[in-house]
Amino acid sequence: MANPRALTAQPRQSKLVRTICMVLIALIVLIGLTVLIIWLSLKPKKPRYSIENASISNLNIANNHLNGTFNFVIRAFNPNSRVSIYYDKVEVYVFYDKDKLAASAGQPFFQPHRNENHLDEKLVAQNVTLTGKVAKDLGLEKAAGNVELDVQMKAKVRFKYGSWKTGHRRLRVFCSPVFVQSSKKNSQTTDCHVSL
Ligand SMILES: *[C@@H]1O[C@H](CO)[C@@H](O)[C@H](O)[C@H]1NC(C)=O
Ligand SMILES: *[C@@H]1O[C@H](CO)[C@@H](O)[C@H](O)[C@H]1NC(C)=O
Ligand SMILES: *[C@@H]1O[C@H](CO)[C@@H](O)[C@H](O)[C@H]1NC(C)=O
Repeated sequence: MANPRALTAQPRQSKLVRTICMVLIALIVLIGLTVLIIWLSLKPKKPRYSIENASISNLNIANNHLNGTFNFVIRAFNPNSRVSIYYDKVEVYVFYDKDKLAASAGQPFFQPHRNENHLDEKLVAQNVTLTGKVAKDLGLEKAAGNVELDVQMKAKVRFKYGSWKTGHRRLRVFCSPVFVQSSKKNSQTTDCHVSL
């Protein structure tokens, strides 16, 4: 025969278990939400990049070889109000189609929160070998006085929150098309795509 007391104790016990489970689930959801809110408020916004005042000097193409100097200003804005950025390793490239025309290692720099930096770039191409098709197309654009280039930047960055600093992350910047006039500066701005 079943004990009548055991029959009444079982529903009470399972109710207790259910209450404990619900409290636990509520706690987990609460902790999860707190972590999400903290993470969202700390998550750095991507810096904003654009190219301005692009020009080429001494552009010369002969026998599928190129000489030239590319000048432009990279504008970098850090939109975060609490996060500063260290740029530890900076590399800048000029491409035409898939051909790399020039590269330069930039100076490391520090970008405080809500700060805009202007990086003056001067990339020199010296006897760069081009594929035949690129040499022909670039020659045609040069003759028309308007060359379309791509500018890329790669950087290793760290974020700084107060006195706490993150590890390195890779930042990539793609700017395309950058219109460059043969002789004079192009005041047009090209907005860049930034990935972190
Ligand atoms: C671009 O050139 C103009 C005129 O020379 C100058 O006023 C402006 O500050 C330059 N822009 C940048 C980002 O240096
Ligand atoms: C590039 O410059 C070198 C000298 O530095 C010269 O010998 C070569 O002919 C030039 N090439 C072009 C395409 O102008
Ligand atoms: C330019 O490169 C070509 C082939 O890569 C080479 O034959 C030529 O000597 C180079 N010229 C200079 C000035 O370095």
